[in-house]
This record gives sequence, structure tokens and C-alpha cells, in this order.
Amino acid sequence: MYCAKVVLRLLPLFLGALLASAASSRKYLGRRNNGAASSPFVSTSLDGKFIVNGSEFQFIGTTAYWLPSLNSDQDIVDTISNMSAAGFKVVRTWGFNDVEAIPENGTWFQLVANGTTTINNGTNGLQRLDKVIEVAEQHGMYVLISLTNNWNPRPLFDNITILANGTVVNGTTNSSTLQSRDVTPGTNNTLPRNFLSNDYGGMDLYVRQLGVNSQHDEFYTNRTIVETFKNFTTAIVSRYANRPSVFAWEVANDPQCNSSLATSPTCTAQVVTKWHAEVAAHIKTVDPNHLVSSGNQGFFCMGCEKLFFKPQAAPRPQASPAPGVRRRSILMLTKDRVLKQRQQLWKQNRQLKQLAGIIPTNGVRIRGNWVATPTRRQGDLAVGSAFDGSHGVDSQDIMAIPQIGFSSFQLFPDQFVYGPDDPSLTPFENKVQHGLTWIQQQANSAAILNKPIALTGFGLVTQNNTNAFVPFNSSVAPFGSGSLSTSSQQPFGVTDAERDQAYNQWVNAGIIGGLQGIIQYQWSQPNLTVQAGTTISPLATENGQVPNQGETGQSPNDGYSMQGVGREDSLQSVLSGGIAQFGADRPPRR
Ligand SMILES: *[C@@H]1O[C@H](CO)[C@@H](O)[C@H](O)[C@H]1NC(C)=O
Ligand SMILES: *[C@@H]1O[C@H](CO)[C@@H](O)[C@H](O)[C@H]1NC(C)=O
Ligand SMILES: *[C@@H]1O[C@H](CO)[C@@H](O)[C@H](O)[C@H]1NC(C)=O
Ligand SMILES: *[C@@H]1O[C@H](CO)[C@@H](O)[C@H](O)[C@H]1NC(C)=O
Ligand SMILES: *[C@@H]1O[C@H](CO)[C@@H](O)[C@H](O)[C@H]1NC(C)=O
Ligand SMILES: *[C@@H]1O[C@H](CO)[C@@H](O)[C@H](O)[C@H]1NC(C)=O
Ligand SMILES: *[C@@H]1O[C@H](CO)[C@@H](O)[C@H](O)[C@H]1NC(C)=O
Ligand SMILES: *[C@@H]1O[C@H](CO)[C@@H](O)[C@H](O)[C@H]1NC(C)=O
Ligand SMILES: *[C@@H]1O[C@H](CO)[C@@H](O)[C@H](O)[C@H]1NC(C)=O
Ligand SMILES: *[C@@H]1O[C@H](CO)[C@@H](O)[C@H](O)[C@H]1NC(C)=O
Ligand SMILES: *[C@@H]1O[C@H](CO)[C@@H](O)[C@H](O)[C@H]1NC(C)=O
Ligand SMILES: *[C@@H]1O[C@H](CO)[C@@H](O)[C@H](O)[C@H]1NC(C)=O
Repeated sequence: MYCAKVVLRLLPLFLGALLASAASSRKYLGRRNNGAASSPFVSTSLDGKFIVNGSEFQFIGTTAYWLPSLNSDQDIVDTISNMSAAGFKVVRTWGFNDVEAIPENGTWFQLVANGTTTINNGTNGLQRLDKVIEVAEQHGMYVLISLTNNWNPRPLFDNITILANGTVVNGTTNSSTLQSRDVTPGTNNTLPRNFLSNDYGGMDLYVRQLGVNSQHDEFYTNRTIVETFKNFTTAIVSRYANRPSVFAWEVANDPQCNSSLATSPTCTAQVVTKWHAEVAAHIKTVDPNHLVSSGNQGFFCMGCEKLFFKPQAAPRPQASPAPGVRRRSILMLTKDRVLKQRQQLWKQNRQLKQLAGIIPTNGVRIRGNWVATPTRRQGDLAVGSAFDGSHGVDSQDIMAIPQIGFSSFQLFPDQFVYGPDDPSLTPFENKVQHGLTWIQQQANSAAILNKPIALTGFGLVTQNNTNAFVPFNSSVAPFGSGSLSTSSQQPFGVTDAERDQAYNQWVNAGIIGGLQGIIQYQWSQPNLTVQAGTTISPLATENGQVPNQGETGQSPNDGYSMQGVGREDSLQSVLSGGIAQFGADRPPRR
């Protein structure tokens, strides 16, 4: 069986145990195709697979949120043809680009200002997205389109000054105060508009323009705002309803209670779930052809009251297990199980490290020191913020909404805590381990509902990318060369080799665990058309953007980019390995 080979070949011993258990989580359903119509639109089968043209469709994809904001048609053609040549089948991008005032240069899709909205369907508006869809179609690629963003921080628009010690103060104190994201030549952190993924408008922009309390969750609850956003989705979704190359609609990137604007105490996961149900149902009435997904990061709200998730009522699969695969009951994620799993894993890791002679049998290593505690207790008996509803999102309840066609989650260990670190492991091993556990938990969670599950974004910041790293809820690179606070920062990021090792393990864990799609964050494209005041601006080199030799016009890099086609051969081959495995794991098509 190929799974076993992969585990042995690719995984360090101490992580093997986890994967062995992840392996069987979904295989028991077999490879039954329930006879879904041989439609070119992406649909799903009753046993949790994507179906295209009557066959299973599994994919490795990449992300280019900036794709519809590129300056020229040729830039879009070059980017998509490079992705396609690299074997990627799906690209995730932004189908929104909201502004509060019409920008001097660059693209925009929707103006939200003074109580009204205007859609821009001109050549610097939706015609850019038209081109993306058209070119994707020509290359046999699918586009996963997100319709808004949870995040839209804009300190650079406000009178905020970032002092040399990193302190943010109100008001203009000197010339380094930045009042606009449109390029202000010569200043620090003046990334062009649309350079960062969180600089395309989104929920907080609607709230700033239409809300009454400037609270993030008004986006989910204020009827005027909800209807305004539904009208925007109508404009986008109806425009491409008949285009098979749209993979699915993602209602939002990272929807949750918290954001750049404060949220009210009444925002709970249920508020976010209800909003999903309304928007997903609306999209389905406008466009019955395409799947709708959430785009949330996969955080759990264990023990929260559910509106839709009724595991007892889920249809039990009738198919017999595939040959050689043991039928396995899928257990609900509970606090007890999460803690018990964690404890077992830590114990296994410790034993494996002891076997390898890395840990003396009578002690553990904590932050570099040997600690002689034969019986170590797990200090933190809380499940942690990824599980307890802290993020104001309940991914299980959302995926159970009837109009949500598949489950999705993300993996960004540099920005989120997926659990406490295992003291037997190095910091890097912990990152890898958190990812493996998270993938397993997500796959098991989705298997309860028999909906496909896709990892729609994952990444690690490398040392080579550290300067360019801008957290999703920030507009400033904390480790950037132009950062005013670099001196106080620790070195950050993994080596390129570590990144490849982590990605390799995650991709394999995902494929073995039953994920149907895996999307890397994010693509990098050189040789794009440089133009002032656009995403591909001459000033975009300021934030650690280093174009390849002889190349200009590097695409945006927020810390996760591959940094140029061909430059990261090793990363490319890791992802190609995943592409090949998905291909090997199903009967040849046609
Ligand atoms: C599905 O069929 C259409 C039409 O023949 C084709 O363009 C498309 O590439 C096919 N998709 C896949 C994933 O095979
Ligand atoms: C909104 O109204 C203000 C005040 O009348 C005006 O200055 C501004 O230009 C308007 N914005 C847009 C985008 O029309
Ligand atoms: C743009 O919208 C206007 C008004 O709805 C419509 O008349 C026009 O045909 C649209 N143009 C394009 C290129 O979509
Ligand atoms: C920013 O500060 C300037 C001068 O101090 C002031 O005129 C302007 O109104 C302020 N803008 C905002 C958005 O507070
Ligand atoms: C940063 O510098 C400002 C101005 O010198 C000072 O008021 C503030 O206390 C400093 N903050 C920290 C955290 O050191
Ligand atoms: C800046 O001003 C706003 C509004 O006056 C206030 O809510 C906020 O706390 C202030 N922030 C800082 C860092 O002083
Ligand atoms: C919702 O927003 C509108 C303006 O966009 C405002 O008039 C209305 O009062 C808000 N409703 C609530 C309940 O806050
Ligand atoms: C949404 O669109 C409908 C139909 O065009 C319109 O009647 C309604 O006023 C719009 N709602 C908002 C809040 O913009
Ligand atoms: C940018 O920041 C660096 C580091 O603080 C500083 O040396 C440089 O002068 C700044 N450049 C400008 C144009 O403000
Ligand atoms: C950074 O990139 C260079 C060029 O690809 C590579 O040789 C080097 O090993 C990378 N650095 C690390 C820490 O991985
Ligand atoms: C970008 O342009 C350079 C210089 O012309 C060329 O060597 C390189 O192959 C191009 N890269 C891509 C991905 O087209
Ligand atoms: C817009 O583009 C023009 C011409 O390239 C340039 O001179 C101008 O500075 C740009 N405006 C902004 C705000 O970047």
C-alpha cells in the first residue's frame, strides 16, 4: 500500500505514529462515486469527494490574491500559465477590491462611500476578474474566489505614528506619519495599495462606511450592511455563474468575531454561523451551479451550542471499506479526546526520542535545559484558543450548513496557536507536529458529515522571507528592514530546508488523511508590469522584496511567497510530489 511507503520514506520516526492513525480516518468510505452527473462544474459526491466531469477531482493549488489587480492582461496570462505549467490545478484569489474613495491608479471593484455602493465593471474593475476567469479556463485551471475579507487594518490611512520603539501613538508627530496607502515615495512601510492581502477593503470597510458603532460584528448583524454585502455577492456571483472554471465561492477570508476594528461583546460563533447560513443560501439562489465554502481558519468551538451540526443525524455511509482498510468509527472532537490525544502523542514522542538517545530516560528537555522529572504532568489542561471558541467561529457548525458544499481550514503556525508545545520536541518539530495534528483533527471533523475537506491556505515564514512578513491583521512588517522596531526583535522564521520538510509532511499527512485539496500560500511571479500606484509598483521592493537577478515586477510578498518561479526549486518539487501522489491515488481518467 503506497501510504505506508510514504510514511516510512518521508516522516521522521517520532511523527510516524500520529500519521498512522490519521491514515484511516476517511478511507473506510471507499472510492464510491454516487453517480454525480458528468458536469464540468465542481460538485461533490456523497462520500466526500469533489467531482468534475464525472470523475474524482483532487488538487494541489496555490494562492494569488493579487491576481485580478495585475496591471495588464499579459501579466495575468503569464502568471496563470506558470501556475498551470507547475501542475497547480486551483488558484485561490480575491473577488473583492473595495475602496472608500476612487483611487488615482490601480484597480478597484466596489466603491462604498456616503451610504451608497458603486460597482466598477470597467477595464480597471471587474474586467480584470473577467480576464482571470477566461485565462484560467484556457489553461484548465480552477479559481477559488473569496468574496470579502475579515481584515482591513489601515493605520497608514489614519493619523498614527509608529515610534522607533514600536509604540503606536495617535496623531501626526513628524514626517514619518503615513496617511495613505497609495504610494508615498521615499517613506518606510509605504506598500502600494493592494500589495497586502488585507488591503482590498472587506468587512471593516463596510462597517466604517455604513456602521453606526464602528464594531466589526456590525458586518454580520446590521441589516443594511448584510444586504449591501449580499448585493455585492449578487454582482460577482451572477457574472460568473455559468463559468465552470470557478471552483467555488468562498464567502470570506478568515470570517470571525475579531478583527482590526473592535468587536462587541454580543458577537459569538453563532452570530458568525447565522451570517454564513444567510449568505450561502443567497449565493445558491443566484448561482446554483457552484459550491459555496466558508473560508474560515477551521477553529473549533467545542461544547458550544450548535445551530446546524447534528452528528447523530448524519447519514451513515453504506459502502464497505476499501480492501485492506479497516473500518473505523469517527469520534466527535471533545475536550477529553483532545487532551488525551495530546497526552498520548507527547508520551510517544518522548519514548521515541528516548529510543533515539536524544532524551535521557530520567528527564525531559525544556527550553534547552535538562529537567529531571520522570513523570511530567501536562501543565495546561485547557484545550486552547483553537478549540474553545476564542476566535468567535465554530467551523463544525458552519460546515454543517446545508448550502456550504465543503469544509475548509487553514494552517499558519507562525500566526496562530494550535496547542501547547511538546517539551520533548524542538520549536521546529513542534510547528510540524501542530500542523500534523491540526490536519488530522480537521479531516476527522469533516468525515462526520461526509463533505469534502480542503486545506485552503498554509505556510511558514522562512528566514529569507522574514523582512517581508506582515501579519494578516497588520500593515507593518515587524521584522522588515524598514521597520522601526527591528532592534527589539528576535530572529524569526525557518530555513528553506525546514520549510520544505514541513510542507512535505503536511502535504503527505493531508493526502493520507483524506483531504481533497491542498492550497499553498502563496505564489510568486516575476516580470510583471511595473506601474506607479498599483500592486506592482516600483516601490514594492521596500519591504524586503528582492526581485531575482535581472527581473523586475515581483508579485506581492507578505512573508509566504515562493519568491520567484524557478528560484525555489525545492519547494516546487515538494508540491509537485503532492500533485503526483494525488494523481497516483485514483484511477486514471479517460
Ligand atoms: C472537464 O471537461 C471540460 C470540458 O470538456 C474540460 O474543459 C475540463 O478541463 C475538464 N476538467 C477536468 C478537471 O478534467
Ligand atoms: C462623500 O461625501 C463627502 C462630503 O460630502 C465628500 O467630500 C466625498 O467626496 C464623498 N465621497 C465620495 C466617494 O463620493
Ligand atoms: C457595466 O454595467 C453597466 C450598467 O449595469 C452595463 O450597462 C454595462 O454593459 C456593463 N459593462 C460591462 C463591460 O460589464
Ligand atoms: C490628521 O491630522 C491632521 C493634522 O494634524 C488633521 O487635519 C486631520 O483631520 C487628521 N485626520 C484624521 C483622519 O484624524
Ligand atoms: C517609546 O518611546 C516613547 C517616546 O520616547 C515613550 O514615551 C514610550 O514610553 C516608549 N515606549 C516603550 C514601550 O518603551
Ligand atoms: C487613538 O484615538 C482613538 C480615538 O480618539 C482612541 O480610541 C485610541 O485608543 C487612541 N489610540 C492610542 C494608541 O492612543
Ligand atoms: C445599520 O446601519 C444603518 C446605516 O447604514 C443605520 O442607519 C442603522 O441604524 C443601523 N442599524 C442598527 C441596528 O444599528
Ligand atoms: C440591494 O439591491 C436591491 C436591488 O437592486 C436594492 O433594491 C436594495 O436597495 C439594495 N440594498 C442595499 C442595502 O443596498
Ligand atoms: C526607514 O527606516 C529606517 C530604519 O528606521 C531609517 O534608517 C530610514 O531613514 C527610514 N527611511 C525613511 C525614508 O524614512
Ligand atoms: C535563502 O535563500 C538562498 C538562495 O535560495 C539559499 O541559498 C539559502 O539557503 C536560504 N537561507 C536559508 C536560511 O534557508
Ligand atoms: C523574467 O525575465 C528574465 C529576464 O528577461 C528571464 O530570464 C526570466 O526567465 C523571466 N522569468 C519568467 C518566469 O518568465
Ligand atoms: C499614479 O500614476 C502616475 C503616473 O504613473 C504617478 O505619477 C502618480 O504618482 C500615481 N499616483 C499615486 C497616488 O501613486
